[in-house]
Amino acid sequence: MKPIEPTDTSAPIDAVTCTIRAAHVEDLDALFAIDSRCFPPEIAYPKEFLQQLLCSPTSVPRVAIADTKMVGFAIVEMRKHGLRPVGELVTIDVLESARRKGVGQCLHAAIERAVQQRGGRKIRLQVSVENETALRFYERLGYRTRGRIPNYYNNSIDAWWMEKIWK
Ligand SMILES: CC(C)(COP(=O)(O)OP(=O)(O)OC[C@H]1O[C@@H](n2cnc3c(N)ncnc32)[C@H](O)[C@@H]1OP(=O)(O)O)[C@@H](O)C(=O)NCCC(=O)NCCS
Repeated sequence: MKPIEPTDTSAPIDAVTCTIRAAHVEDLDALFAIDSRCFPPEIAYPKEFLQQLLCSPTSVPRVAIADTKMVGFAIVEMRKHGLRPVGELVTIDVLESARRKGVGQCLHAAIERAVQQRGGRKIRLQVSVENETALRFYERLGYRTRGRIPNYYNNSIDAWWMEKIWK
């Protein structure tokens, strides 16, 4: 039987409430469907990769539920950087119909808290230089651009690498 997960956080989304919970391997199809709707096929993650992340002890996957529907998810991988754990944000995906309602912020808050609880003080990520929406989103959440990685996506599109550090 699937364990009941504690709710990490919640926030008002119009008339409904967005609830964040841990993701399980049973959520794989839903995560794959959301990722495939958020990104073109050449950028979306293969199902096997998402499955690996859902099963990995070092990854922290969270899903957002609004009005009983899954509307987004986020995954962070915990890595060691020197002595300190660092969160590597794999992705945050929110379905188009649920965007600009605070779901992304809510998912990120849950991820940030999980990294802090594991002793981390930093989250790093890569984002396509062409993904203006995500750039604005991460800047709003306090990320700073640290550098540009040439040909990061499909050997053709550059990425910014960004990080957020807190005390
Ligand atoms: C990026 C993404 C996760 C944001 O999710 P969201 O639920 O719409 O974000 P929020 O509603 O929490 O937005 C928080 C803030 O981010 C900024 N923001 C979000 N979307 C924005 C946009 N389209 N244009 C400008 N700023 C934006 C705003 O400051 C916003 O606050 P505001 O609405 O009060 O102005 C979502 O657009 C998405 O899933 N995109 C496709 C997948 C993707 O590119 N993921 C990132 C992978 S690196």
